[in-house]
Amino acid sequence: RPAAVVLGIESSCDDTGVAVVTSDGRVLGEAIATQADVHAQWGGVVPNLARDAHAAAIDRTVDSALAAAGLAPQQLSAVAVTIGPGLGLCLRVGAAKARQIARQYGIPLVSVHHMEAHALVARLPSAAAAAAPPAVRMAATATTAAAPAAETHGSSSPGSSPPQQLLVVPQSPEAAHHSAHEAVAASSSDRAQTLEVAAADSADPATVLADIGASVSVPFPFLCLLVSGGHNLLVLVRGVGKYVQLGTTVDDALGEAYDKIARLLNLELRPHGGAALEALAREGDPRAVKFAVPMRKYATCDFSFAGLKTNTRLAIEQQLAPERTACLTPEELRKVKADIAASFQAVAVTHLTEKTRRGVGWAREVVPELRHLVVAGGVACNQVVRGSLQQLAENEGLELVLPPPRWCTDNGVMVAWAGIERLALGWAEPPPPTTTNPTQR
Ligand code: KG4
Ligand code: ZN
Repeated sequence: RPAAVVLGIESSCDDTGVAVVTSDGRVLGEAIATQADVHAQWGGVVPNLARDAHAAAIDRTVDSALAAAGLAPQQLSAVAVTIGPGLGLCLRVGAAKARQIARQYGIPLVSVHHMEAHALVARLPSAAAAAAPPAVRMAATATTAAAPAAETHGSSSPGSSPPQQLLVVPQSPEAAHHSAHEAVAASSSDRAQTLEVAAADSADPATVLADIGASVSVPFPFLCLLVSGGHNLLVLVRGVGKYVQLGTTVDDALGEAYDKIARLLNLELRPHGGAALEALAREGDPRAVKFAVPMRKYATCDFSFAGLKTNTRLAIEQQLAPERTACLTPEELRKVKADIAASFQAVAVTHLTEKTRRGVGWAREVVPELRHLVVAGGVACNQVVRGSLQQLAENEGLELVLPPPRWCTDNGVMVAWAGIERLALGWAEPPPPTTTNPTQR
């Protein structure tokens, strides 16, 4: 019996991510166009530039993911797309493309919540990560083509460790398309032969559910800590669509704090300020600067990072004031920055861990049989975050589940997989009617 094959599209922020995933948990192809170059000079994501970059990249990213999978669009069972939360201008680019594909090929359309996708990707068997072909990575626009730059490819690199493989950003969208096809041609031809795919009825909920049941690595319920640039949530996941929010941030998300401090320290913001801050913090002493651990007075599972962010900014302004740094060597200056970075990170991670520990207690009151803790979202790439929550999980007798770093930051695989989980419950829209004028949708 053929598995359902779902195309997932993610465009909520600054990455155009597309992937092809099967209902029995295989990632057949993945492509991602990053806009880091577009936004780095502005110190943050500029919505209308992001929209333009998504629009410039969406077609070839979809084509590359399908090429990597060795599939034609006719072989898809359904298309899934992030519909929020995120930047409206950007979400619309992905949604329009998904709708167009659903209409053109007569397949169901599945709407996915961005944070749900971050959480559910943990259920993809870990073997899927090992077997998945590397993501085709490219720049979102062709503006860097004049001086071809190297893009890192992080398929198997943990967190912010050095890139393991380099791909050259192609000269133009056409060239990008072409080289992406070439890059995957060899592997995809084998896969196309071994994959039995029939679009017609493979999206049938009962069969999709059976596939999922036989393949997932983490059963429901699980406790999930979601840490990204926009959200900081502690959620008891009892099933698809059954989420009990135990805690959220009362101000900033941790990823946002990482990004802000990375900017204040003039770190490289590509691909993520957070990764650069983590790398710098490795050279620092986490006890060098005394920051208060947030929210200890509150017996809640809520998070707060604004105060820590402000205190870190004040430490930077004080310790990096020109009169204090004038006589420092570059190495000494770097050590001052690294100490601040490490101290910020240590307190932030202590706070995350303390609130998650409380959340384990809360969750167990409702679900005594709780066995798994999932940590996902972009900040879950961070090795210090991973290590601290690993320790917590061990102390609490839980199994820690961490998606591979490439599926922690925004990507198409998580959207495709969340789409499969929803498809299994019959939560899909029928294909949009072909009679409608596409420009009006
Ligand atoms: O999930 P994601 O890709 O996008 C959102 O949904 O927000 O998360 C991006 C966030 C950024 O704030 C980025 O700085 C942070 O994740 N991040 C990290 C690391 N890698 C990415 N933060 C800390 N350490 C890292 N290694
Ligand atoms: Zn995200």
